[in-house]
Amino acid sequence: MKEVQVETEIRVPVALGPRSYEVRVVSGRAGDFGAFARGSLETSWAGRSCRSALLVTDAHLVDLGLPQAYREGLEAVGIATTLAVVPPGEASKSLEGAAGLYDALVRMRADRHTAVVALGGGVVGDLAGFAAATYARGIPLLMVPTTLLAQVDSSVGGKVGVNHPGAKNIIGAFHQPSGVWVDTETLRTLPDRELRCGLAEVVKYGVILDPEFFDELEDQVEAILARDPRALRSIVARSCRLKASVVERDEREETGLRAVLNFGHTVAHAIEAVAGYDGPYQHGEAVAVGMAAEARLAERMGWIGPDAVGRIERLLVRLGLPTAAPGLDADRLIDAMTRDKKNRGGRIRFVLPRAIGRVELTDGPEAAEVRAVLATV
Ligand SMILES: NC(=O)c1ccc[n+]([C@@H]2O[C@H](COP(=O)([O-])OP(=O)(O)OC[C@H]3O[C@@H](n4cnc5c(N)ncnc54)[C@H](O)[C@@H]3O)[C@@H](O)[C@H]2O)c1
Ligand SMILES: [Zn+2]
Repeated sequence: MKEVQVETEIRVPVALGPRSYEVRVVSGRAGDFGAFARGSLETSWAGRSCRSALLVTDAHLVDLGLPQAYREGLEAVGIATTLAVVPPGEASKSLEGAAGLYDALVRMRADRHTAVVALGGGVVGDLAGFAAATYARGIPLLMVPTTLLAQVDSSVGGKVGVNHPGAKNIIGAFHQPSGVWVDTETLRTLPDRELRCGLAEVVKYGVILDPEFFDELEDQVEAILARDPRALRSIVARSCRLKASVVERDEREETGLRAVLNFGHTVAHAIEAVAGYDGPYQHGEAVAVGMAAEARLAERMGWIGPDAVGRIERLLVRLGLPTAAPGLDADRLIDAMTRDKKNRGGRIRFVLPRAIGRVELTDGPEAAEVRAVLATV
């Protein structure tokens, strides 16, 4: 498959052998979803004769009237569709939430020719994806992400799962979708803060993998914030391509390559742990602070110069993201980082930039250096 760009759509292939699929990025084309769904399901043996689907969404999207067009699209290609609506919010990403979807699947006598369609943000995608991964040992999944975070991050890569009351994302599976349909028009109704949180992950892709993409972001700040469809299609597709390039080389997080996606996240996870997951920082905001802090750490180690740090911080600020989280205790942040499961031998592991567009995994930073940087957070 080759990447195809025409005026109103960008097709991003994700090459994973028999689990390959396409991310199609469009603007204002809900009417074409049925044909895409049918085409994507054709490529999975289980879906070739797909006649029914469970369309999973959350109550916000029902209020916005979004599911109707997708349901009609599926029905138009002969896929009888049952709607399952979960309450909005992280609490739905639970074993109880999954059980509710299993009930719906059993009620509709779903078999391995039934597809699950996840229409919503990362919560719906992770939950519906987990149900699809486990029901009947795996049934086809289509992702229709409607938050920027879900469009650029959670719906590509095959990680699905739910939370345990004591640990986030701890119950899960790898289950690649059969197709991902991204319509940037859905972002029109997304609150500004949710848009900004997605943009933090977008900036991350530029810093870790693609200096030209970072330049494009610097040039396009106004168009992106104005939600210009062309600008959104471009950044969503580029982000998906970059995430796909990592996932293609490390599908199940075995070679360590997928770790590059954690730039900014070592500090971000500590901020979330210390400030609380329902605290003042949403994930994308914690990632923005984390990227700024980790860029400063890379500068202290002599890996990048002050110019690169300045560019990263300025871009985040222009996008309306924080670069500091005042009031958090450096000792508690370090404590949270030392307990992180990804560490080896008591040292804290970071993914740090060598330049804009290139990162390396390291456990090199001395505790004193980490502390000095966190003191400025
Ligand atoms: N699987 C992965 O690889 C991966 C990666 C990153 C994050 N995640 C997970 O993603 C989740 C966060 O996802 P999220 O940020 O999309 O949150 P979310 O799904 O909770 O959505 C955020 C809010 O936006 C609303 N919403 C969704 N689409 C909308 C639209 N078009 N217009 C208006 N409102 C809309 C939702 O109802 C919700 O209230 C977390 O659970 C996280 O663990 C998973
Ligand atoms: Zn993240």
